[in-house]
Amino acid sequence: MCGSFVMQTSPAVQSLPAANQATAVGVHVQSESLLELEVPGLAESIRQACLGEADLVPYRVRQALNQALDRASTDRLVSTIMSLPYSAQTYTRHLLYADPAGMFTVVALRWDPTQGSPVHAHYTWCAYRVLSGVLSESHFEYDRSVEQAYLFNRVTRAAGQSVCGHGGMDFIHRLHNDGDQTVVSIHVYGIDAARMSTHVNRMVTVSLRAETPSQAPGK
Ligand SMILES: [Fe+2]
Repeated sequence: MCGSFVMQTSPAVQSLPAANQATAVGVHVQSESLLELEVPGLAESIRQACLGEADLVPYRVRQALNQALDRASTDRLVSTIMSLPYSAQTYTRHLLYADPAGMFTVVALRWDPTQGSPVHAHYTWCAYRVLSGVLSESHFEYDRSVEQAYLFNRVTRAAGQSVCGHGGMDFIHRLHNDGDQTVVSIHVYGIDAARMSTHVNRMVTVSLRAETPSQAPGK
């Protein structure tokens, strides 16, 4: 129901290139605020979280996601995202909410099997929550002496799990769908929507140094 409503009232769906992505990423920009339609109140909760002390902002935003996204609203949001256009070649981002003041942007990501992000750090704080399916997250540590990152850990993020972090080289990761089911996740970044393609992911060179990833509990 919600999906068809969005499609009918959002004729201006655009595809934009992600300029700093190692692989092409389809970004579908909606003219309506999907977030306010499907999860009323979440955008305001995130805005309040952004007004706090800088160190705490990503943790407060993550908490806002966890508190607002109950089973019913998660199911509605996933249903809507699954009804939207997507790329068969690479993961797809859907703009859910652009803060009018430019403090944050909320997107949903659809990951079909085998799709994943490049290895990247962030220019900005971020928080995300898996809405359906299971994502794999690989963690990398940055070696300043050679200006490369090496893999040191890999975990799985099932629906309901959430993660947050500050911008910087101490949080480098790669998200990937290793399973056979489509994954949907929601992500919040501390930038305005116009900079989504250029000011979120900082590409990182990965070392070929052999490391054995280990399974560890999710954050
Ligand atoms: Fe990321």
